[in-house]
Amino acid sequence: MECTVSRQAARLVILVSGSGTNLQALLDAVSDDGYGAAIVAVGADRDGIEGLARAERAGVPTFVERVKAHPSREAWDEALASRLAEHRPDLVVSAGFMKILGPRVLKENSIVNTHPALLPSFPGAHAVRDALAYGVKVTGCTVHLVDAGVDTGPVIAQEAVEVLPGDDESSLHERIKVVERRLLVQTVGRMAREGFTVTGREVSLGVTR
Ligand code: GRF
Repeated sequence: MECTVSRQAARLVILVSGSGTNLQALLDAVSDDGYGAAIVAVGADRDGIEGLARAERAGVPTFVERVKAHPSREAWDEALASRLAEHRPDLVVSAGFMKILGPRVLKENSIVNTHPALLPSFPGAHAVRDALAYGVKVTGCTVHLVDAGVDTGPVIAQEAVEVLPGDDESSLHERIKVVERRLLVQTVGRMAREGFTVTGREVSLGVTR
């Protein structure tokens, strides 16, 4: 798969489920014209979250598609795919979006996810807790393309974070998130400005120009 981006700013839709600090880092980054991307919408799977409030404060359109508002997971997938298509994204960024995306959304979009562990270690919703429970001394974060599995898509970028004596889930997650926000902003910016190529599991940035 080859994805070339035009010289216009790449159109990003960001998906969130919670506090949205990764979204905020992207909102801050796109305020610089040189970043090469614009956030055209923010979507969520639930109402009343700080992530949506951050988008509203920034004047970015928002939408919510709750799974329970639909008769089936398939119907939710169709609805979310339609919402995304309305905004014609070049790239969808799952930034703390806590739902598994369905086949239509996956087929129609290039999607990047940020995960608070060094994949393939500790996939799933409790990555920080699982890493601590295992007793690892180093964990970190991964930016990867989304495929049909749970945190199994091709890795784009990773960075390590040391586990410190006395860390609990909250202290470790906060330290990971500092690194995660920087890595996500840096990686999405490069994908937007330079394009990317996927060959099997290898993602190459900046090779399409
Ligand atoms: C991030 O650590 C993300 O990797 C995980 O949930 C956290 C979301 O944080 N899935 P925020 O909502 O961006 O503050």
